[in-house]
Amino acid sequence: MSELALATGSLNLGQGFPDTDGPAELVQVATGAIAGGRNQYPPSQGVPELRAAVAAHQASWYGLAFSPEDEVLVTTGATEAIAASLLALCEPGDEVVMFEPSYDSYAACASMAGAVPRLVRLHAPDWAFDADELAAAIGPRTRLLLLNSPHNPTGKVFSALELSQIAELCCAHDILAVTDEVYEHLVFDGAHVPLATLPGMAERTLSISSGGKTFSFTGWKVGWVTGPAPLVAAVRAAKQFLTYTSGAPYQLAIAHGLSFEPAVINGFGAALQGKRDLFCDGLGKLGFTVYRPAATYFATTDIGTMAPGMHANDFCRALPQRCGVVAIPSSVFYGPGDPGAGRTLVRWAFCKRTDILEEALARLASWA
Ligand SMILES: Cc1ncc(COP(=O)(O)O)c(C=O)c1O
Repeated sequence: MSELALATGSLNLGQGFPDTDGPAELVQVATGAIAGGRNQYPPSQGVPELRAAVAAHQASWYGLAFSPEDEVLVTTGATEAIAASLLALCEPGDEVVMFEPSYDSYAACASMAGAVPRLVRLHAPDWAFDADELAAAIGPRTRLLLLNSPHNPTGKVFSALELSQIAELCCAHDILAVTDEVYEHLVFDGAHVPLATLPGMAERTLSISSGGKTFSFTGWKVGWVTGPAPLVAAVRAAKQFLTYTSGAPYQLAIAHGLSFEPAVINGFGAALQGKRDLFCDGLGKLGFTVYRPAATYFATTDIGTMAPGMHANDFCRALPQRCGVVAIPSSVFYGPGDPGAGRTLVRWAFCKRTDILEEALARLASWA
């Protein structure tokens, strides 16, 4: 879709990357590190500065204690952390329970590990799951549960009740959890609670995050995993043969960012909230049914009233030509089991400049 946006000169509300860089201070740290000679392979577990910063972040934001020595692993974005975790923990034939719609790398990485995704549906408008369906998805072959909260593509923040239902099932069935928390600091309504903070979960959870979304430097690809030392060691063994290590100067810059005062970090989410409101209000006025996200870069709409009978895939294919805007059909976030899933849903990235969002809304008016 990003290629289509370039080819048609469309506004790209497809892929989730901001069109404005993050704090200049972090650029200075990265360029200073390059000029200062931090240009060779960093340690495979990550530079000590970032491991210490991640451990301090987990302690101060969530009260989770991790040793920077062996309970923190720096990865090439959350993407590598997800891949390495699934490769490390799953054997062929194992099952990985995850919610759908879901970020597209989960099923792909489970398959690369020879594991089988077991999908549990989230239902609009609040993207709730059926607790009985989740319980039924867990069986003798279940190796782990993969949770993404705040959630891409829906923007859902899993509630305290939902997290406790998930945690109780993990403990009762003695399964591991892997959590993807890359949007942890981009929450507008409610609060992000890491699954690892729930009773019985710290010892069975690998928590994944990344600096890309929080600091608006998605191209730097600096992520991390925290968790019990034996699980982190297993992920490190897989990472050894994926990238081994990467991005020393960027690791130092993200370490610096993690040391920002909480008010500064919360300010990133507050700025994005204004864009969420502007864009969701605008889409609603145009006639879309908007599922207003509680977090993340993304809003989901139902196009049923705007384009009656039209599949979202066709809508998104027509959109660049008709309106000069690119968006993603949510069907890509559903598994192959139900070909009709997400057929009227479209995901829009609103992590863009205000003038771009206004221009996109003006262009979309021509569809109506
Ligand atoms: C839910 C989720 N996890 C992981 C990633 C990738 O993170 P990174 O760029 O740090 O690899 C994304 C990027 O869109 C995402 O939405």
